[in-house]
Amino acid sequence: TAAEKGGYEWFMAKEIDEQPKAVADTLLGRVGTDGRLQLDEMRLSDDELREIDKIIVIACGTASYAGLVAKYAIEHWTRIPCEVELASEFRYRDPIIDRSTLVVAISQSGETMDTLMAIRYARQQRARVLSICNTNGSTIPRESDAVIYTHAGPEIAVASTKGFLSQMVACYLLGLYLAQVKGAKYGDEISHVIDELHAIPAKVQRMLDEGDQVRKLAADLVDRRSFLFLGRHVGYPVALEGALKLKELAYVHAEGFAAGELKHGPIALVEKGLPMFVVVPPRARDQLQEKIVSNIQEVRARGAYTIVLVEDGDDSVVPFADVVIRLPRTPTLLQPLVATVPLQIFAGELAELLGHDVDQPRNLAKSVTVE
Ligand code: AGP
Repeated sequence: TAAEKGGYEWFMAKEIDEQPKAVADTLLGRVGTDGRLQLDEMRLSDDELREIDKIIVIACGTASYAGLVAKYAIEHWTRIPCEVELASEFRYRDPIIDRSTLVVAISQSGETMDTLMAIRYARQQRARVLSICNTNGSTIPRESDAVIYTHAGPEIAVASTKGFLSQMVACYLLGLYLAQVKGAKYGDEISHVIDELHAIPAKVQRMLDEGDQVRKLAADLVDRRSFLFLGRHVGYPVALEGALKLKELAYVHAEGFAAGELKHGPIALVEKGLPMFVVVPPRARDQLQEKIVSNIQEVRARGAYTIVLVEDGDDSVVPFADVVIRLPRTPTLLQPLVATVPLQIFAGELAELLGHDVDQPRNLAKSVTVE
């Protein structure tokens, strides 16, 4: 109803704007006064968690992209090997799991059938299952050994926005918590990352405040039928998410890929005027940053229209960018929390300009309760 939309035309627009709060609420109460993380619904003991020697994240769609981000963060902070798998593939491939495997299921709704079936299978194989979920008391957390709830509030629009950001936050918390349990030296990287996480809501707010730039861009590109998204490291899942949002909402061809793969095929798609979003890693990652800048040059030389998401103060890409979207500076691993936002706004705006139902895209359901 109109009242529930709080003055917004679409739930999705409202939910995009609620993201600073979704991030803040998902962090709320999870850092003690001593600076240590506490995850109250974590029903696995520290001893059990110390037995974990492998993590497999399972999820579908946007939630699986949160899982891809989680892999980078969890492996970096914990040194525990972490795989990410689409829930629909997981149980059909005879995966190697046992008591010391932690299966992490990510689901906004908690009712996605593929994900539910995957955790049932994982528990039959005696793996421990932890879910990251936004819906209290839904099936997936009920059937899990442990849960970290995201506190995004109800997500009504079919396209996930605040759900995704809060899933990434929960993944970061899980990675940092495991590092803490494993006895990572305290006061170092972990507390620094926690401080940086607390700075995210204001940075997301800035991306919202600057949303008119991407809305205008959507108006300029409303007639395009194909879009590419390029990223690497954690920018790769951001590229996948940017493309999925555009497919879901605007019904246009959109593809995200890892920038390093460009020469292995996708560059053949580049032609004059093809819009290409590129997520540039922070400058601190100089090797990655330089490589992606040369990718931007390559596609630009072939006529692509380059829309470059790059942190404040990094001007190295400016000569090769048709449009520069500025991102607040943040550590590389957390960059997806800010870089995703303009891509959501762009997809929503394009859908609206094309006259589509932004909240209920054709052929899609909010939670997919069939396999
Ligand atoms: C996201 O915009 C999609 N509608 C979809 O990919 C969704 O993320 C996926 O179906 C998983 O849903 P869940 O998080 O409720 O399990």
